[in-house]
Amino acid sequence: MARTCLAVVLAAGDATRMKSSRSKVLHTVGNLPLIAHVTRAAASAGVTKVALVVGRDAGLVTAAASAGLDVPVTPVEQTERKGTGHAVLMAREIIAEGFDDVVVLYGDAPLINPESLAAATTERARGADVVVLGFRAKDPTGYGRLIERDGELVAIREHKEASAEELAIDFCNGGVITFSGTEAVSLLEAIGNANAKGEYYLTDIVEIARGRGLRCVAIEAPEEDMMGCNTRAELAEIEAVWQARARLAAMLSGVSMIDPASVFLSFDTELGPDVMIEPNVWFGPGVRVGAGAVIHAFSHLEGADVGPGAMIGPFARLRPGTELGEKAKVGNFCETKKASVGAGAKINHLSYIGDAVIGAGANIGAGTITCNYDGQNKHVTEIGAGAFIGSNSSLVAPIRIGDGAYVGSGSVITMDVPDDALAIARARQETKPGRAERLREKIAAIKALKKNARAAQQD
Ligand code: UD1
Ligand code: CA
Repeated sequence: MARTCLAVVLAAGDATRMKSSRSKVLHTVGNLPLIAHVTRAAASAGVTKVALVVGRDAGLVTAAASAGLDVPVTPVEQTERKGTGHAVLMAREIIAEGFDDVVVLYGDAPLINPESLAAATTERARGADVVVLGFRAKDPTGYGRLIERDGELVAIREHKEASAEELAIDFCNGGVITFSGTEAVSLLEAIGNANAKGEYYLTDIVEIARGRGLRCVAIEAPEEDMMGCNTRAELAEIEAVWQARARLAAMLSGVSMIDPASVFLSFDTELGPDVMIEPNVWFGPGVRVGAGAVIHAFSHLEGADVGPGAMIGPFARLRPGTELGEKAKVGNFCETKKASVGAGAKINHLSYIGDAVIGAGANIGAGTITCNYDGQNKHVTEIGAGAFIGSNSSLVAPIRIGDGAYVGSGSVITMDVPDDALAIARARQETKPGRAERLREKIAAIKALKKNARAAQQD
């Protein structure tokens, strides 16, 4: 039978160093709140329930932690910050429901790897009562040191209490501790606060467990996985690690990037095989790109579904609700929003296409604008399959341009155009033979008169 596991996620942290009006764990990496990275990692490692220890912004934090998660999340409040041991005990009633394992995670450490969590559970299944995820710290200052003897963990010593000999240890507590669900409440209740900080240290659980003849072990994980966020500078460092991982995963799945470091991905970006991404491209949330599509440099995509073989940019902006069919093209300096663009249709230059439905193979000329907004409401523009919209046309919505219809360049179209009709809505051209030459002479004469008048004044 599969093990039951409760994740207690600590998110009641002190965020003063973030200098933020929001809870720290609501800040995002890859456009997903830190807390959601943590709960998603827990869920994919097989956690069966989440107890969320929250402080400020409890409602928002709970919503972010549980969005899109198929594991139940129950918030519990910690109103006073009295240490990690105290924080975990806020979930006492949920822990007492009975789980095989309890794992403590920090809500501000989003890079935690589900495989490390699974490895800890495996150690539990093999008989360890407490499993601590440790890392080799480049600079161990401030971390709890993992003290091992004969392959077992005997204590976690917080920096402030550590002896000189213990301070020399570089194997540190990453903060993720998995322990026996049946022992959990009684171990946690035995934690006291007689220490340098006057806090209830979760880390005391190791010595308490050993005192009861239980077995504790530490397993090693990469330092990067344990990165926590206290300042905006650390948030940016975490983002950099996350982006590097996301780009690598995309490239290994068959996506080409010429300059990966300049491509920004979101947590849910889906890129098909043989997609080519040029430098300086930004993917906001909700983007899917079909096989073989090319995203040229300096494009900005958000909430867009790009069909296979489509060509985007350079300098294109696809806003939410954009759906591009197979081999559609959206070229330079074009913006689309709530626009469904049929297969093979082209919007190649300098256009705004919003609230529009465009048929397959339509050609939208340079500078075409869908006038979708009357100052109060948005209206839809429909353009039929194979229609041709001449350059610099304004289509005043609501409006329908029929299949195969033709709109003359520079038109302001305010009435529907039937299938296969030609609509021209601009002033008729007048051509006056020889008039250019007469105009030039007239201008030259005026210029000469002015010059003479100025000379007369100076005399
Ligand atoms: C803790 C560990 C230390 C470990 C380090 C790794 C303890 C006593 N120490 O130290 O061994 O090396 O993390 O980063 O556990 N939190 C609450 N409520 C509280 C206190 C903390 O929600 O009352 C949350 C914080 O928001 C944070 C996490 O718990 O996400 C860790 O707390 P923090 O105060 O940063 O612990 P450290 O002193 O860094
Ligand atoms: Ca910390």
